[in-house]
Amino acid sequence: MTMNKDRRFAEKVALVTGGGDGIGRAIAVEFANGGASVVVAGRTEAKLKETVQLIESAGGKGLAVSCDVRKENEVKTALQITKETFGRLDIAVNNAGVDEKSSPSAEQSTAEWERVIDTNVHGTFLCTKYEVPLLLEHGGGSIVNISSGAGVIGVKGQSAYVTSKHAIIGFTKSVALDDVDKGIRVNAVAPGMTETDMMMKRATGGKAENIAKAKSLAPIGRFAKPEEIAKAVTWLCSGDASYLIGATIVVDGGQTVP
Ligand SMILES: NC(=O)c1ccc[n+]([C@@H]2O[C@H](COP(=O)([O-])OP(=O)(O)OC[C@H]3O[C@@H](n4cnc5c(N)ncnc54)[C@H](O)[C@@H]3O)[C@@H](O)[C@H]2O)c1
Repeated sequence: MTMNKDRRFAEKVALVTGGGDGIGRAIAVEFANGGASVVVAGRTEAKLKETVQLIESAGGKGLAVSCDVRKENEVKTALQITKETFGRLDIAVNNAGVDEKSSPSAEQSTAEWERVIDTNVHGTFLCTKYEVPLLLEHGGGSIVNISSGAGVIGVKGQSAYVTSKHAIIGFTKSVALDDVDKGIRVNAVAPGMTETDMMMKRATGGKAENIAKAKSLAPIGRFAKPEEIAKAVTWLCSGDASYLIGATIVVDGGQTVP
């Protein structure tokens, strides 16, 4: 019998921030399916450990590292632990992010604005800052930043989140130029509404009528599965995407097309 096992990421080491839940977890497992060793970095250790179990079930090596992406010393340490454990870094997915408590800008609290921008924008910057030198040690690699459909359109009541996700696309374009000549490819994925806690519990409050209303906004008529976003991310990190630099792939069931 012919085995058709995906070995695209054999011998590679991948880091996924926010890998304890939702999209980040699906990305981590997809890398493991391709043969990578995967570090999941995030705030909730128990959830990260669950992801490591899934990585190991997929036949990969996994490591959970506590890290708040807003804190420079924690990001720096997470990358040091990655190097100490696996010796290198080839792929990084800056996925950790928070949604915004909906409010018109004029009524939004400054603390909420700062929480969203700090996590989504500053966190992506900090991770990149410490990922790039590790990638360069072994001739480059790939970074994917997770933006959102809200990175390409405006959304009522979501000015901090929309700003943060637009910023990630601009950041991606700029960082992509920094070390393209040294073998680092930086791109972004902008997911649409995806079946994770962010959408199923917080954005919709878990209410059937809100879920139905949200689904109707996507021409495809449903939410994405986290695995559908993970497929786009892992493809971007694979050799098949070798000519993509500074690009954003929108994976949103057509929501932002009209
Ligand atoms: N679910 C959606 O509909 C959707 C749509 C577009 C974009 N996104 C983006 O996809 C990414 C993943 O979202 P998700 O839907 O899986 O949400 P989620 O809430 O299920 O997961 C987010 C993860 O990020 C982690 N995180 C949050 N703040 C952190 C911090 N300061 N340091 C470290 N980790 C932190 C959380 O603990 C969690 O593990 C986010 O960047 C989100 O903005 C999600």
